[in-house]
Amino acid sequence: MCSARRMLQQALRVSGRTASPVLKWMERCAEGAGAVCPPRRARTLEEMPGPSVLSFAWDLFGKRGLSRLHELQLEGRRKYGPMWKASFGPILTVHVAEPELIEQVLRQEGKHPMRSDLSSWKDYRNLRGHGYGLLTAEGDEWQSVRSLLSTHMLRPKAVEAYDGTLNSVVTDLIAKLRTSRFSHLNKVTNCHWFPRFTHLFLFKGISSVLFESRIGCLDSSVPMETERFIQSINTMFIMTLLTMAMPGWLHQLFPKPWNTFCQCWDYMFHFAKGHIDQRLQEEAEKVARGEEVEGRYLTYFLSKTGMPMKSIYSNVTELLLAGVDTISSTLSWSLYELSRHPDIQTSLRAEVHAVLEGRSVPGAADVARMPLMKAVVKEVLRLYPVIPANARVIADKDIHVGRYLIPRNTLITLCHFATSRDPGHFPDPNSFVPQRWLTRDQGNHAYASVPFGVGKRSCIGRRIAELEVYLALAQILTQFDVKPDPEGSAVRPMTRTLLVPDSNINLQFVER
Ligand code: HEM
Repeated sequence: MCSARRMLQQALRVSGRTASPVLKWMERCAEGAGAVCPPRRARTLEEMPGPSVLSFAWDLFGKRGLSRLHELQLEGRRKYGPMWKASFGPILTVHVAEPELIEQVLRQEGKHPMRSDLSSWKDYRNLRGHGYGLLTAEGDEWQSVRSLLSTHMLRPKAVEAYDGTLNSVVTDLIAKLRTSRFSHLNKVTNCHWFPRFTHLFLFKGISSVLFESRIGCLDSSVPMETERFIQSINTMFIMTLLTMAMPGWLHQLFPKPWNTFCQCWDYMFHFAKGHIDQRLQEEAEKVARGEEVEGRYLTYFLSKTGMPMKSIYSNVTELLLAGVDTISSTLSWSLYELSRHPDIQTSLRAEVHAVLEGRSVPGAADVARMPLMKAVVKEVLRLYPVIPANARVIADKDIHVGRYLIPRNTLITLCHFATSRDPGHFPDPNSFVPQRWLTRDQGNHAYASVPFGVGKRSCIGRRIAELEVYLALAQILTQFDVKPDPEGSAVRPMTRTLLVPDSNINLQFVER
C-alpha cells in the first residue's frame, strides 16, 4: 500500500496536480493501517544526506543564514530531498520537509509531546529558579496546565466571550489610525510605522484577555515599561537563535548574546509579575470590602485553581510573549497582501457588509460566517507561517520516518515553510490566492500548511488569535481602503525565531 501511494503521489506531482480523492482515500486506508510504512531495510542517520558541519556553520554565520533559515529549508529540500541532517551549533537535527513525513512524525509523538529538550529558554528558567509555562513545560506538568488553559482558550464558547474585549481594542486601534493621519494628506493615513503600531495594539489585546485591563499602549505616549517589554520580546527572539547556534565554548568567548538573552527574560518576568501582583491585590481588596469578585480573565482563572504563584508567573509571561508578535505579524501580512490585491480586498469587504447587514461592529458569531475571511488568513499563514519551523523530540522510542530509523531523543525539525511553498502541494506557491482554500475538494495534504501545529501540543492561542485578526480586518476594511504606500517597496519575510517582515510594511488607510 505504501509504495503504491508514494508512486501515485509522485505521478500527481509530475502531472502538476495536487492530491486527488483517490489519493485521499488511499491515505485514509494507510492511516487506518498506522500510516507509517517501515521500510524493508531502514536507513540510519549516518546514511542521511546533509551539509557538513563547517558548510552549515558558514551558511548560518557567513551568509546571514540565521535570518534566512526559512530559505535554507527550501535549499535543503532542493539539494537533499525530503529529509536531511544538519548540525545547528552543538545540536544535530533531522529536517523533515514533506507533509506525509511530517504526519508520520506527529502521529508517533506519544502522550506528552515534546518540542525541544535543549532549549535555551529552559536553561534560563533553571538558572534563575523560575517555573516553566505552557511553552516550556513537559510531561505531567505540561498536561495539567494544558488542561486548565484549554477550558478557557480553546472551547469555542469561552473564546466567543472575549469578542467584546477584543473589539474595544480594535476600536481604539482605528481611532488611533485616524488621529495619526498626516495633516497634509486629507483623509489619508500614511502609516509608516505599522509593525510597531500593530505590536502595541496587539499587546493591548492579549493583556485584556489576561488581566481584563488594557495596559495603556495606544495612548499618545506609550508607557516606558510596555515599550521595554515589547523590545525585550524582539531582542530575546533574535538572541534565541544565536545562543542555540553557538557551541558552548563560544559562549565563554562571547558572553554578550547569552547575557542579553537573560536580561530580556529578566525584564519580561519582572513585568508580568508586577501586573499579576497588582491585579490579584485589587481582587483581594474587593473581597476584604465584602464586594463580589467575578473576574473574566485568564490570570484570575489560573489563580483560582490553586496553582503555585511561581507557575502563574511563568505561564502568564509566556502567554503575553506568545500573544504579541504572532498576531501582529499575521495582521500586518494580511493588510500587506490585501493592499496589493484590491480585487480580493473588495470581495472581502463585500462579504463583511453582507454578514453585518448595516451593523458596524462584528461579533464572533458574525466572523464565523465569513468563508473568504478565513481563506484570506489561511493563505496569509501559508505564505508567512509565523513559526516557519517547529520541532519535536520523541524521547521514549526510536521511530521510522520515511526510509529512515530516527533514534530516540533526536531533535526533528519540521520544515513548515518548505511544505507550504511547495508547488507540488500548492500550485503557484508564492502567489497570494485565498480562493485555493474555498474549494477544499482539490485539497492539499492536511499537513502541508499547519501554521498552528497539529495535535495535543498545537497552539493553545489559535482561536483567540484568529478571532482577533478577523475582528480587526472586518472593522478596518469597512472603514478604510487599504493601499500600498506608493513609495514603499516589496517586503520579504525574515526569520527571528518567528517569521516576521524584514522591513516596515508601509500602508495608506484611505477613509471610506
Ligand atoms: C497567528 C497567531 C499564532 C500562530 C500562527 C501560532 C502558532 C503556534 C505554533 C505553530 C505553536 C507550536 C505548536 C506545536 O508545537 O505543535 C504554538 C504553540 C503555542 N502558542 Fe501559538 N500561535 C499564535 C498565537 C498565539 C497566541 C495569541 C497565544 C496566546 C494567547 C499563543 C500561545 C501559544 C502557546 C502557549 C503555545 C504552546 C502550547 C503547548 O506547548 O501546549 N499562540 N503556536
